[in-house]
Amino acid sequence: MRIRVCFVCLGNICRSPTAEGIMLQLVREAGLEDRIEVASAGTEGYHAGERPDSRSRREATSRGVALPSRARQFLRSDFDRFDYVIAMDADNLEKLRSMAKEVDSGFRLSLLREFDPGEPDDLDVPDPYYGGEGGFARVFDICEASCREFLLQLTRRLELGA
Ligand code: 4NP
Repeated sequence: MRIRVCFVCLGNICRSPTAEGIMLQLVREAGLEDRIEVASAGTEGYHAGERPDSRSRREATSRGVALPSRARQFLRSDFDRFDYVIAMDADNLEKLRSMAKEVDSGFRLSLLREFDPGEPDDLDVPDPYYGGEGGFARVFDICEASCREFLLQLTRRLELGA
């Protein structure tokens, strides 16, 4: 069994590429590259083809994580390609829900922070785009903690073959 995951934010240059890069590294460290495929996309295509924002890349590099993605817009057909579609905030989730109507391919749609072990009241990964550098460090911390827990759950699923 192979599990395919797509992280989704608005522009696909800050939050979802950060989650993707962290998850790729965690999957590699766990030796699960053959079992878990990781990607990201944006609900909008403003930045299609671009590398992640330089502030996201700087933060990730300082933590030893590479962000290899190029921005692209999420397509309705992606619901057929991915088993898990993981939104960064409530706006992204709402957009994805509206796109998902009439698509029924068994994918799971959720918010990344549903996996946050800190069990926050606010389940949004805050959009760092118009803020300062501190926002990017916070996004990284949230993505790392949440991706670790998400991977644990995926690993259990793989072990169960379910
Ligand atoms: P992201 O951040 O959704 O985490 O990639 C943003 C990127 C670009 C814009 C907004 C948020 N923008 O307005 O261009």
